[in-house]
Amino acid sequence: MNADTESRQDGPAPNSAANPAKWTDETVLAFRAWTPTLLTFRSTRPAAFRFTPGHYTRLGLGADDAAVWRPYSMASAVQDDFLEFIAVLVPGGAFSEQLRQLRVGDSLRVDKAAYGFLTVDQLAPGKDLWLLASGTGLGPFVSILREPTVWQNFERLILVHSVRHSAELAWREEITALPDRFAPTKAALRYLPIVTREPGATALADRIPLLLADGRLEAAAASPLSLAGSRLMVCGNPELAKELRQTLSARGYATNRRGVPGQMAFEKYW
Ligand SMILES: Cc1cc2nc3c(=O)[nH]c(=O)nc-3n(C[C@H](O)[C@H](O)[C@H](O)COP(=O)(O)OP(=O)(O)OC[C@H]3O[C@@H](n4cnc5c(N)ncnc54)[C@H](O)[C@@H]3O)c2cc1C
Ligand SMILES: NC(=O)c1ccc[n+]([C@@H]2O[C@H](COP(=O)([O-])OP(=O)(O)OC[C@H]3O[C@@H](n4cnc5c(N)ncnc54)[C@H](OP(=O)(O)O)[C@@H]3O)[C@@H](O)[C@H]2O)c1
Repeated sequence: MNADTESRQDGPAPNSAANPAKWTDETVLAFRAWTPTLLTFRSTRPAAFRFTPGHYTRLGLGADDAAVWRPYSMASAVQDDFLEFIAVLVPGGAFSEQLRQLRVGDSLRVDKAAYGFLTVDQLAPGKDLWLLASGTGLGPFVSILREPTVWQNFERLILVHSVRHSAELAWREEITALPDRFAPTKAALRYLPIVTREPGATALADRIPLLLADGRLEAAAASPLSLAGSRLMVCGNPELAKELRQTLSARGYATNRRGVPGQMAFEKYW
């Protein structure tokens, strides 16, 4: 897959997850329900499993002959001895309905490989790293923010998380505490939660593309966008990714192209 292509892969790749040799059976260690339809969960980590923050893998649930495989981004840090994921339970979704039944101690299949281009190494060096997420698109950015080197390589880390309701602001307390955890650091964190369907819950309440277009996002981050210094990653809702790609392209931002690092990277979840 070209790094310039927004990814959307939901079945097992040929000769990949469908082949038993390509996955391991892991055990679910813990669940946290942020809402009845939003979970974070941890599993054991295969000893040989390697990934870069921002990568996703494929998770498989169900009987051998009818397992359902879906891509999920790692939210855990590369140094953690477990894997952590965030998942929305989509009503009627083939994977979601099986995930809803999963309990601590149950088995979960994890593809042996990690995939994707939503990684900091896709970007040219810069001063400000903007991480723009909707819903569960937060997951890979939590992994990136749990990586100590990102706190040394940037001056500002700006995390924007748009959700419908405030209860969906997963890891909110941990995110707020990250600067203390990694102190002393070069980077300052600006965490900008956006709740769109609960008036008054957050200072910003409009959708990200509008907030970017009218300058309110840059004002809230106290950081104007510049081609020279700003690097942007976008993850989650495909319409959000599409609109931001258009807006940013028009302002001169580009994705990694044939190995030449760019100023922006995208991953869409459906
Ligand atoms: C590269 C990649 C990484 C992904 N990482 C994650 C992740 O970390 N966490 C996660 O929850 N999902 C993630 N997804 C989506 C995930 O793979 C599944 O599609 C999703 O969990 C629902 O699976 P399903 O079989 O229940 O329903 P599906 O049949 O796969 O989806 C049904 C519908 O649900 C909606 N939908 C699907 N996923 C989401 C979502 N994440 N948020 C909001 N609406 C959604 C869409 O309208 C979609 O058409 C990722 C997808 C891709 C392509
Ligand atoms: N979240 C829930 O309460 C809930 C409950 C049950 C089931 N579900 C199902 O779960 C799935 C995921 O819901 P979700 O809330 O995680 O994801 P979502 O619909 O993508 O919404 C997440 C955030 O992204 C914003 N957004 C949506 N479309 C956008 C666009 N085109 N441009 C910019 N921002 C956009 C939303 O704002 P807006 O509020 O303005 O749309 C919201 O702030 C859906 O299939 C839904 O039917 C959700």
